[in-house]
Amino acid sequence: MHKDIIEVLLNSEEISVISKNMGRKITNDYKNSDLVLIGLLKGCIPFLADLSRNIDLETQISYMSVSSYNGGIKSSGEVKIKMDLDISITDKDCLIIEDIVDTANTITTVIDLLLKRGAKSVKVATLLDKPEGRIKPLQPAYVGKIIPNAFVVGYGLDYQEKYRNLPYVGILDPKIYKKY
Ligand code: IMP
Ligand code: MG
Repeated sequence: MHKDIIEVLLNSEEISVISKNMGRKITNDYKNSDLVLIGLLKGCIPFLADLSRNIDLETQISYMSVSSYNGGIKSSGEVKIKMDLDISITDKDCLIIEDIVDTANTITTVIDLLLKRGAKSVKVATLLDKPEGRIKPLQPAYVGKIIPNAFVVGYGLDYQEKYRNLPYVGILDPKIYKKY
């Protein structure tokens, strides 16, 4: 285990089980749809890679980059689009793939935008959910694991762009961010 991690919340075996089960549900639910997976960069990358390979459908994948944290540990509440989708989502069933939903400020802004662009439906699949942190009401359609209100890193999740490559999700030692 990395020295800056105080507790592992999801190990790689558990993540693999989540990806398989969620992928099977999505395959079943979107059988007769025109599905587009929308990955929110950069945190979605490991989960999207694993989840999408467990979705047995002809689907498109596109990415967006929006920011709210600016590298810190608290959501700034302001959402900026840094990189937009490269395909049209008009009349498509969109499934946004997220690493974690916390305040839901970011994701609700993206949902509104996709609906305004004419998406047929917009749902959310997230590896982690921190419902205690909610500011905007949102119930993701697919949740890997509900976690307490702690700052976590690994498997895509970062603190100042670090720890994304850890193969598990763990609670970051508060000493790391209290230094700054
Ligand atoms: P929200 O808008 O507050 O729901 O924040 C969503 C985004 O904030 C996620 O996609 C993450 O990039 C980031 N985030 C939220 N909680 C954490 C955390 O515990 N660790 C790392 N990033 C987080
Ligand atoms: Mg992030």
